[in-house]
Amino acid sequence: DAPRPRISVIGTGYLGATHAAAMAELGFDVVGVDTDPAKVEALSAGRLPFYEPGLGELISEHLATGRLRFTTDLTEAVAVSDIHFVCVGTPQQATSHAADLRFVESAVAGIARALSHDGIVVGKSTVPVGTAARLRELLGALAPEGVAAELIWNPEFLREGKAVEDTLHPDRVVIGGASAAAETAMREVYAAPVAEGAPFLTVGLETAELVKVSANAFLATKISFINAIAELCTAADADVTALADAIGLDGRIGRRFLDAGLGFGGGCLPKDIRALMHRAGELGALEVVGLMQQVDEINMAQRQRVVDLALQSCGGSVLNARIGVLGAAFKPLTDDVRDSPALNVAAALHLRGAQVTVFDPAAGDTARRTFPTLSFAAGTEDAIRGAHVVLLLTEWAEFLDADPVALGELVGRRTIIDARNKLDAARWSAAGWTVIGLGTRPTAAPVGMPMAELLA
Ligand code: UDX
Repeated sequence: DAPRPRISVIGTGYLGATHAAAMAELGFDVVGVDTDPAKVEALSAGRLPFYEPGLGELISEHLATGRLRFTTDLTEAVAVSDIHFVCVGTPQQATSHAADLRFVESAVAGIARALSHDGIVVGKSTVPVGTAARLRELLGALAPEGVAAELIWNPEFLREGKAVEDTLHPDRVVIGGASAAAETAMREVYAAPVAEGAPFLTVGLETAELVKVSANAFLATKISFINAIAELCTAADADVTALADAIGLDGRIGRRFLDAGLGFGGGCLPKDIRALMHRAGELGALEVVGLMQQVDEINMAQRQRVVDLALQSCGGSVLNARIGVLGAAFKPLTDDVRDSPALNVAAALHLRGAQVTVFDPAAGDTARRTFPTLSFAAGTEDAIRGAHVVLLLTEWAEFLDADPVALGELVGRRTIIDARNKLDAARWSAAGWTVIGLGTRPTAAPVGMPMAELLA
């Protein structure tokens, strides 16, 4: 048998750390590389610099088996590896919607200069279409003479909070622009998920880049679609959750990603649709630009809608009102607050003079670093004590399972805005709460008591 390829993973954020651990789990020798020494030190000790269920355990396990290690030394990592996965970030640029490609470019340049034997460079980061072809040129120009290096694209579809599961058991494996030899190598890398039934799709380099972006654009569109319908439901006195259940039973539609509410955030969907908008504009595909613009606008409007509901429920002004905010992460099971709708709403109400107290089971620290002026509580009780209105902004299970009777004793007024439409409204209203959803019927008429009365 030929020896198994050895693997390097460049970039150890959510994507890279998970990919590295998953490759070790599949039996490969893996070295993860990051420029940040603190990250490398933490990972080398089996500590995660972020919250991701199951990942810390998997990393510790393979630090112990000896199949996984981390380093800041790119040259050394490349020298001992045959396949190099590029997993660095492509954040939104500070001054435009375009993706910032500095990290992918410097990763590929770094790998190219460090190559000491033949290898395959596999891009996993989400990039604007056309980037891979340029990186391929860069690799060709910088690789040492006599070394054969090929660049291919292999998009990753993992969700935060489910990263390990998604990486070990992907829905599909997409390989773009591979030669016969590179395809063989990728079939070896992904033999286990493919044996489990994941389709292995080979496509062109540009198609592979676009598959990733289009998948995220479609998911974002699905969410904004149901949020637009939610607005109509509110106006027409219909219930968007019941509606989603009904249309979701059509196999062509599907129920997943049809939860109306505060909308999408995080490190991927918002920046990806904006980068797509930008790139499609450059390429003259104007329908895509218009569609994505609309999806983005509908999504951002949901945040304003929740701010307006809070204002309304406090009689038109939140000045000095106590507001308890449950949730800061962009979704449950993560401590990620990048472009978090929850934090956005909390900050907007704080700016309007409300006394906002936030609690999140995992994202308290990252949220505090992002918005040091907000107050943070150590638990649900402390966050909602004396509140004139409670906002449920991230649907953590511990909020959905909380006891509305006990919590009702703590608040100033039993009004909760369920911005994710996930509470058992009947249970909460039985405990005397007015539950206000987005596109659902309120369980009691929203009260608009004047602020002076509330504060008395
Ligand atoms: C997403 C994609 O799902 C993943 O395939 C890709 O690789 C990276 O981007 P992630 O950012 O981890 O993953 O989050 P995801 O679970 O997709 O949720 C995105 C946002 O949409 C969250 O803010 C969530 O609250 C929101 N959402 C999701 C809704 O508002 N309604 C829904 O029905 C589903």
